[in-house]
Amino acid sequence: MTVSSAPGKVYLFGEHAVVYGEPAVPCAIERRARVTVDAREDDHIRVEARDLSLDGFTVEYAGETDYRPDVDVSKGLVDAAVGYIDAAVGQARDAADAPDAGFDITVESEIPLGAGLGSSAAVVVAGIDAATRELGVPLAPEEIAERAYRAEYEVQDGQASRADTFCSAVGGAVRVEGDDCRRIDAPNLPFVVGFDGGAGDTGELVAGVRRLREEYGFAADTVESIGDIVRTGESILADADPDSVPSDDLLTELGRLMDFDHGLLEALGVSSRTLDNMVWAAREAGAHGAKLTGAGGGGCIVALDETSETRTALRYTAECTDEFRAELDREGVREEDSADASGEGTSPEAEEL
Ligand code: MEV
Repeated sequence: MTVSSAPGKVYLFGEHAVVYGEPAVPCAIERRARVTVDAREDDHIRVEARDLSLDGFTVEYAGETDYRPDVDVSKGLVDAAVGYIDAAVGQARDAADAPDAGFDITVESEIPLGAGLGSSAAVVVAGIDAATRELGVPLAPEEIAERAYRAEYEVQDGQASRADTFCSAVGGAVRVEGDDCRRIDAPNLPFVVGFDGGAGDTGELVAGVRRLREEYGFAADTVESIGDIVRTGESILADADPDSVPSDDLLTELGRLMDFDHGLLEALGVSSRTLDNMVWAAREAGAHGAKLTGAGGGGCIVALDETSETRTALRYTAECTDEFRAELDREGVREEDSADASGEGTSPEAEEL
């Protein structure tokens, strides 16, 4: 049995524009997906999810499956979850040259699915790490990032950047521009996350931006302007001391850019009333800045506030179902102690296909 975990992330800046070759700066946060993998004698895959959004779903299959468990979330989310795990298994089998390897897989995640915190990337990254270790071929984080990207690319019909998967694999703050992915120095910024309890469909949202960008020159300019925001933000971060508490000036400047970024994402049609309301609640509470994070459509916002004011305001915002402080996680994918792996006696019955 092998257990690996990988962090989720928030976007300081640059989601969506990164799909078109602009830079983006996602930051890994201390919320993890943990994947336990046990090799099987046969070539079946049995997946049990104890994800926040998919609590208690179990599915077992061999080869193709269109079976979907009966859980109280949208079919799209379940399809996506099974698709990501399946794609991660495919990458692990390929890396280990073990096309018929079968696994019992348990996913436990502190990251809500489809909510902009990189849940799918964290599951795919941790899944590939655990499965390849279980097969005796551990991979370097960079190779896991590459394989996790290929898995996401497959599931998202070619509409994925390397940002989420690279960030989850290596941890910390990263800069991604096309194929150029690297870690950057950044202080531990005072991120506050607000969650509306919902999720967006990344594929549809990315396709919507693509259509707008193809139809209107000003939408293409908007995507480029997001790239300009990221470049400005990067140079501000480059001047900051990564080991010190961020200064008020730094937070003010970064916050202004986050507000700008949110406005442009809103113009591109990927925000929602609930996300906007949480963004405004954070700003009115005195946050330095606030924006949606990830694909949008519903899910999470991220604000910068070193005080408790934004959290308090979000707690009293009707649209917000959860709020928390998110610390920068400087560690990416890692092997966990399998002695801590739980799961005895709590599994729902598997459906044999
Ligand atoms: C989704 O977390 C981020 C997007 O930019 C898509 C991607 O980069 O693959 C919307």
